[in-house]
Amino acid sequence: MRILFFGDIVGNAGITAVSDVLSSLVTKYGVDLVIANGENATRGFGLNYHDCLALREAGVDVITLGNHWRGRSSIDDFCEEFDTLVRPYNLRDYDFGQGYVTVDVHGVPVTVTNLLGTAFMKEEVLSPSVCMSDILSEAPEGIHIVDYHAESTSEKATFAYYFDGQVSAVVGTHTHVQTNDARLLPQGTAFISDVGMCGAYQSVIGFEPKSVIDRIYYGGPTPMQISEEGERCINAVLLDFDDETYLATDITPLFYIDGKERVYGQKDL
Ligand SMILES: [Fe+2]
Ligand SMILES: [Fe+2]
Repeated sequence: MRILFFGDIVGNAGITAVSDVLSSLVTKYGVDLVIANGENATRGFGLNYHDCLALREAGVDVITLGNHWRGRSSIDDFCEEFDTLVRPYNLRDYDFGQGYVTVDVHGVPVTVTNLLGTAFMKEEVLSPSVCMSDILSEAPEGIHIVDYHAESTSEKATFAYYFDGQVSAVVGTHTHVQTNDARLLPQGTAFISDVGMCGAYQSVIGFEPKSVIDRIYYGGPTPMQISEEGERCINAVLLDFDDETYLATDITPLFYIDGKERVYGQKDL
């Protein structure tokens, strides 16, 4: 089983970056299931119906969210219509939608869970580890992918080692910066602290640099603008699993600019 997971998709630049190459990546790498984090897809904050549909039509099978899960309040109205849209499981006092989904891929159950972390996050949430134990006791046996949406790299690694061998993969999202620590843990869980983002390459985590500088350094009143111009990048990981043991056999980070595979810090391969 090979699963392709895209990091946070930011704005139209991110949606088009993904939709332009998704089918070719699926063919090139022999992908069986596509997962993407869509919490920033609608102009940087949240996900509206139109963009949810666009990601589905582009070929994203399961969409996860994060702390911006309700950046567009309209999600209350449509999140249950999309049976493979996953909002954070451990939210307090939010009754819409689902915190994990299980899909059948060639006869193998694949469960995808979305959890919010706690360190340096504003949201008050239920304990991710307690929630994960609850999910493992009720979800069907099979491959289990956890999108752990959090700021702290050490928090994500701690969670991954705690559940090593119990879940198939822990992939971090939220920081929009791909970390250079993808690995297989000793008991067979694939892990990366952060997958990174999909969107404008020359940007501050997807936002137009000048608008961020104005806002952060000069207290400018204008909100940060989404960066829609120029090169578009994709940060993702390929995850390989044994269909019998449900454990990971490999994790491979991917980085593309305008549809061309790249290595950070190098102009060309
Ligand atoms: Fe986030
Ligand atoms: Fe994000």
